[in-house]
Amino acid sequence: MFDDTRLSRAGTDSDGNSGILNPPVYRASTIHFPTIEAFDTRFERRFDDVVYGSYGTPTTKALEAAVTEIENGSRSIVLASGTAAITLSFIACLKSGDHVLVTDSAYKSTRTLCETLMARLGVEASYFRPDAGSAIEDDIRPETRLVFLESPGSYTFEVQDIPAITEVCRRRGVLTAIDNTWASPLFFKPLDHGVDISIQAATKYLCGHSDVMLGTIAVKDETLYRNIKDVATQFGNNVSPGDCYLALRGMRTMGVRLRQHQETALRLVEWFAARPEVAEVIYPAWPSDPGHEIWKRDFYGASGLFGVVLNPASKAAVAALVEGRKHFRIGASWGGFESLMIPAYPTRSFATPPWDERGPLLRVHAGLEDSRDLIEDLERGFDGFHSAG
Ligand SMILES: Cc1ncc(COP(=O)(O)O)c(C=O)c1O
Repeated sequence: MFDDTRLSRAGTDSDGNSGILNPPVYRASTIHFPTIEAFDTRFERRFDDVVYGSYGTPTTKALEAAVTEIENGSRSIVLASGTAAITLSFIACLKSGDHVLVTDSAYKSTRTLCETLMARLGVEASYFRPDAGSAIEDDIRPETRLVFLESPGSYTFEVQDIPAITEVCRRRGVLTAIDNTWASPLFFKPLDHGVDISIQAATKYLCGHSDVMLGTIAVKDETLYRNIKDVATQFGNNVSPGDCYLALRGMRTMGVRLRQHQETALRLVEWFAARPEVAEVIYPAWPSDPGHEIWKRDFYGASGLFGVVLNPASKAAVAALVEGRKHFRIGASWGGFESLMIPAYPTRSFATPPWDERGPLLRVHAGLEDSRDLIEDLERGFDGFHSAG
């Protein structure tokens, strides 16, 4: 079955709900049982049955089933946010004395997690070049337990050779996890490429309407699933069934939305690339992008998020371009229906030349507006850019 068909079927439950297609919002804390035996053994069945609100209700389980299906996994876990999914994966896989190798292009909060909580717990983190491929082997130490990937990278969109990295990690007995939020499981399927833990900030494209915070983790291995699920529950990771319902509703239109984000992003990238004020566009689907070949080999599409490096310009000129736009809002959380544009300041150990020596970097999210309106808005922005000098 193809993904669009799966999205329209996954997690729907017409049986037992009067023929209603969508699963209802089951709210629960207490679950009652018919016998003492069923009560006493409830936690043995916690991964499959509904035994307590904190392990999820049928609405949570419908969403988890749908995520499992599009991730080509065997189990999924719904969490309170993308950040919760990343943090709990680290905590479930790592203990004091372990080493974690993190892509240098990771989302800023992932770096912060390494430098604060993980350091306090006695876990050492180091960063590897996003273009490492199989050379990541040189960075693996005897105490390395986890390699954390993100492809393309936050802000700078480096595409990683995931199959080459997972081949090394499997051989060396090291777990791999990926923040796959940019592509979503529709445009890249990490578990098919040997990654152990596939993470989504479902806040973005999966929910898709800028109104829900949610994260998901998908895995193939049952022991890994049980470990992460128990840790998540120990941390009191309760997700509102109402939010799970909204996520399921978002998933129904995810395929069409993502294709539209991609089409608009490509139009905007083409337009930016032709502007004299622009030094470089960074978007894996763009043929001159350094990650284009790997993207073509491994991905099914590109989402709406890309970077624009301007030629050197004053702060006032950049502000005039970004501020006061009619259709591009200044906001961080992308993946919704709206277009966004923000200045970006990547933190990198290995960038050559360093990012702060290049021109100003903008991160743009192509929303679902008509690209003609977006381009007209950007033209006005560049008029202001020149007037501001
Ligand atoms: C790549 C990436 N991963 C994870 C997150 C965190 O997700 P959440 O906002 O749901 O905590 C973000 C948020 O911006 C992100 O951009």
